[in-house]
Amino acid sequence: MISDKQQLIIEKTAEFVKATLHNAEGGHDWFHIYRVWKNAMTLAKEEAADLFVVQLAALLHDIADAKFHNGDDSIGPATAGKFLAKEDVDSNVIVHVQNIIANISFKGGKHLLEFSSKELDIVQDADRLDAIGAIGIARAFSYGGFKNRRMYDPEIQPDLHMDKERYRNSQAPTINHFYEKLLLLKDRMNTAAGRKMAEQRHAFMEHYLDQFYLEWEGLQ
Ligand code: ADP
Ligand code: NI
Repeated sequence: MISDKQQLIIEKTAEFVKATLHNAEGGHDWFHIYRVWKNAMTLAKEEAADLFVVQLAALLHDIADAKFHNGDDSIGPATAGKFLAKEDVDSNVIVHVQNIIANISFKGGKHLLEFSSKELDIVQDADRLDAIGAIGIARAFSYGGFKNRRMYDPEIQPDLHMDKERYRNSQAPTINHFYEKLLLLKDRMNTAAGRKMAEQRHAFMEHYLDQFYLEWEGLQ
């Protein structure tokens, strides 16, 4: 259960994140945070977890993304820690939230996991859920448009073995991103509740792709 004092801190954190991300790019704006927060709440109701830590970490997980700070991945945890300390949050909660932020990201598939907790599992699942399903499709095409990429090019095959650098700099069409990342996420979920939600969103993407190829050839 969340105490009144914790509830107030959550609300202040949401305000802080909203203000900090007011001109963030579309994939990581306040509404991405909002959706991850809601996903995390849904998952946390089915998995025994500390709801205070889950909510703070969901709200702060993209507060300073390394890829917008010359690859420096210490800025996110540091910014979150500074804010939470100012709000008088217990230091063990702060350290837990910082560990979640430091370990949540999917970087082209390869990842060194140094820390684990139920709360990390939940927030990571919540973030992954926002990359799949109807929202995931919208985010992928929005990102592809921003990068001026083709929607689809039947000549260019997906590449499942990209390193971190090639993954970031890829000029491949957006449809390839489904095979390189989005359709792989279902099998990487940590929690049973996350897996269940991912399966529905995954099926929606597969259905979408079937329809996409039929329309591409004028068959439907
Ligand atoms: P994260 O910060 O979650 O690791 P990214 O910054 O890589 O993810 O991606 C943010 C959003 O943009 C996600 O929804 C992701 O699917 C999408 N995206 C990332 N790379 C590509 C790409 N090459 N083509 C299309 N969409 C992409
Ligand atoms: Ni995120």
